Amino acid sequence: MYEQISHSLLNEILADLSPELEREDLRHFFTRLGANFYSIYCLFHLLYGDREDMRQQMQNLVERMARQYIHRPEINRKSDLEREKNHNWFLSQQWVGMALYSDGFAENLPDLRTRVPYFQELGVNILHLMPMLKCPKSKSDGGYAVSDFREIESRLGTMADLESLIEELRKREILIVLDVVVNHTSDEHEWASRARQGDKRYQDYYYIFENREVPDMFEETMPEIFPETSPGNFTWDEEMGKWVMTVFNDYQWDLNYSNPEVFIEMLDIILFWANQGADIIRLDAVAFLWKKIGSTCQNEREAHLILQLLKDCCQVSAPGVLFIAEAIVAPVEIIKYFGEDAVIAKECEIAYNATYMALLWDAVATKNAKLLNQGLKSLPDKLDRATWLNYIRCHDDIGLGFDDQDIFAVGYQPKLHRQFLIDFFTGAYEDSPARGLPFGRNNKTGDARISGSLASLVGLESALEAGDSERIHHAENLILLLHSLILSFGGIPLIYYGDEIGTINDTRYLEDESKANDTRWAHRPKIDWEKAEKRKQPNTVECRLFSGLKKMISVRKEIPAFADFNNRELLTVANPHLFVFSRFNYNHGSVLVVANFDSSPQHLNLDELNMGGLSRHGVIMDLYSGESPALFKNQLIIPPLHFYWLTDNHRNA
Ligand code: GLC
Repeated sequence: MYEQISHSLLNEILADLSPELEREDLRHFFTRLGANFYSIYCLFHLLYGDREDMRQQMQNLVERMARQYIHRPEINRKSDLEREKNHNWFLSQQWVGMALYSDGFAENLPDLRTRVPYFQELGVNILHLMPMLKCPKSKSDGGYAVSDFREIESRLGTMADLESLIEELRKREILIVLDVVVNHTSDEHEWASRARQGDKRYQDYYYIFENREVPDMFEETMPEIFPETSPGNFTWDEEMGKWVMTVFNDYQWDLNYSNPEVFIEMLDIILFWANQGADIIRLDAVAFLWKKIGSTCQNEREAHLILQLLKDCCQVSAPGVLFIAEAIVAPVEIIKYFGEDAVIAKECEIAYNATYMALLWDAVATKNAKLLNQGLKSLPDKLDRATWLNYIRCHDDIGLGFDDQDIFAVGYQPKLHRQFLIDFFTGAYEDSPARGLPFGRNNKTGDARISGSLASLVGLESALEAGDSERIHHAENLILLLHSLILSFGGIPLIYYGDEIGTINDTRYLEDESKANDTRWAHRPKIDWEKAEKRKQPNTVECRLFSGLKKMISVRKEIPAFADFNNRELLTVANPHLFVFSRFNYNHGSVLVVANFDSSPQHLNLDELNMGGLSRHGVIMDLYSGESPALFKNQLIIPPLHFYWLTDNHRNA
């Protein structure tokens, strides 16, 4: 858009560009800057317009963007151009992700490189490498308390190791996701050290206060994130003699984005990792980016403006790179992290579907899909050019972030229902086979969340211990059922490492003092490669899970209706144990997804469905097994904890 103020500002900025930048070939950079500048200017002005140094800060911003563009390797520039042409590439059903810790899945980065064929064997082609940057040893928050944003933790490897890993992945057409922890730094980061030494410039990088007056005002409305281990949102720093805002752990200092220098530094770090070869960048804890007295300091409008500005700037220097929003917030809020627009994601192209994840766990515990159906109805439609990251487990706890209104609507009492779920998954509930652990119990509010690996939560651990083959079989089916739902829902499925072979809770964290009070470590396992080898031995748990999942992934990739073009319809059926939706593709036909959450067989009356896009006359076929399911008088019979991907023509692809 041509707008006079921003246009003349851009001319001034370009006229003042440092001479060393002028010598470079910035052709693509300039066209992209021109296309995005009006928006960049407006957002920057909204956030920082009242500062005297706004003009200078904009100059700094453009120069940083230009420098990172100059450093962008040729191979990435090429993929930027390709992705510009094929901008819907990430909506395809071809993508399947896995998240892992390099020192959990393997020993370190070089060892991980030797394990890359495993991803190909399973069919995974997006790898989320959990944070691996430098962190203080005993105060790392699993890699999310970074003390140097440009240095890899030495125990994991070097920059050269990462480079050769990425090269290996690229050869096999596997994309890489890297984290940038945008909300906070470790208290041992250089900026924090300088702030501690009294450097005013760096004190302005954080929220630092002389006394409790302002912190107390903030506390009135701010919830606690880690109430057990790090109560409150401020920490007294003895050396500085001041209070500092620490929303997560007391050693994670929140960055102050009302300071444009912080914005520019963090953008520079994002672009740095884009240039190291990240295809997708996971922006951590984005809901927390803006703090305002009188609010919860989550989901503030300015947090969205910051994300829009990051996106616009990234589109100038590294446009092929996508963002994932890690915002584990209420359904109506999550959707906003795509950016509220008609079509295009203005903030993050991808967002964690925490709503779906939590609702799936509700269906596991209740053995019915009542809240799952209700909750999804309240999840607003997403933008066309944006997609979900669908997952069952990740490195974090499971928060029961359902809407109270939805819980009421299906006839439960919110407080009691949440308590039931916690009791169920921690095994306190009678007959529950789950072996989860409570996380983040807050005695003031009664809230709690749940830790534990997928296999332990669905009862595989307890069934194996009891040597009960029927229960083992149920747990295996449930693991496959849940995966079938993240693979067919629409979006990128993200498998959590170890789940593909039924890895149970890893209790070794209890021996480490710095981890023992954080139950999330129970589900950040060290992979037992002898166990993983059993995936090749028929009649083992590992083989049934791994081969089941491998097949599911390859079938998913063949089903065009599973690409994510807002082509899903939830279907209401009378049987509460069933979760049913249809995925459609006008050229290739529809697929009816049916999942039975109960431990006994269930019936689906096909007459009530209008067939979800299937014809009444063709032979119904399950694309996963390649078989026709049992029908009794127009009633489809779904075995316990089983799923179908039904179509009415032989190969729907
Ligand atoms: C994100 C991470 C989580 C971490 C938190 C604070 O939510 O996923 O593991 O504890 O940010 O950095």
